[in-house]
Amino acid sequence: MSYIIGMVSQKGGAGKSTLARLFARELAKDGFSVKIADLDTQQTTCTEWAADRAEAQIEPEIQVQPFGNLKTALAEAGRFDAYILDGRPHSSQQTLEIAQAADLTVIPTGQTKDDLRPAVKLAHSLADAGISTGKIAFALMKTTNSEAELNAARAYLKQTEYITLDGYVPVSTAYGIAHDAGKVITETPHRTLNKKAERLAQSIINRLAAVTASKEIA
Ligand SMILES: Nc1ncnc2c1ncn2[C@@H]1O[C@H](COP(=O)(O)OP(=O)(O)O)[C@@H](O)[C@H]1O
Ligand SMILES: [Mg+2]
Repeated sequence: MSYIIGMVSQKGGAGKSTLARLFARELAKDGFSVKIADLDTQQTTCTEWAADRAEAQIEPEIQVQPFGNLKTALAEAGRFDAYILDGRPHSSQQTLEIAQAADLTVIPTGQTKDDLRPAVKLAHSLADAGISTGKIAFALMKTTNSEAELNAARAYLKQTEYITLDGYVPVSTAYGIAHDAGKVITETPHRTLNKKAERLAQSIINRLAAVTASKEIA
């Protein structure tokens, strides 16, 4: 397998880099070769985080490289089992190019209408530009733990033709602390929090498998 996964949103702070790191670690721990192309050269969140992780000698080590140019980044994508494109906010052009290159494009969104509406709008703009709807998936990030609120958000997203990934990641200071220590959100000291993040990561893996299976048949 050689997958390309894009993490995109128009908003900053939505959870793109959180998803990129989570997904990279979950695959790397199972022996897959992965790399994050850090395309947010303003923030370089993943790049700096990877240095913290290496400094703290946390295994598995995660390869991250900043790229100003998506084409350069993509040149080596085939060398990895999974190549993760961590996009920058406020860039319709880069976001579209990421989606065009990716087998699956994940859009993190919060559960309020303020977050859901722009996420759906972004998905529509990608679909309008020719990205197949089955390759666009929403991830519920930085949510509450309220089942009613989560269900309402899922109901809202279900009206669209895109995928909504199983699982969700609630806001928790423990997740932020994990990032600060060079860890991902499945590496907190709290089993329930790790499980929640794991479920979302697994859902991305399942979706990728489904997308690429249909690609092989087609
Ligand atoms: N579930 C969460 N709970 C608490 N903090 C979070 C959570 N998810 C992400 N964060 C923090 O929110 C900030 C923004 O997340 P990030 O993934 O970098 O967003 P983006 O890449 O979309 O700008 C980071 O400081 C990150 O550590
Ligand atoms: Mg980021």
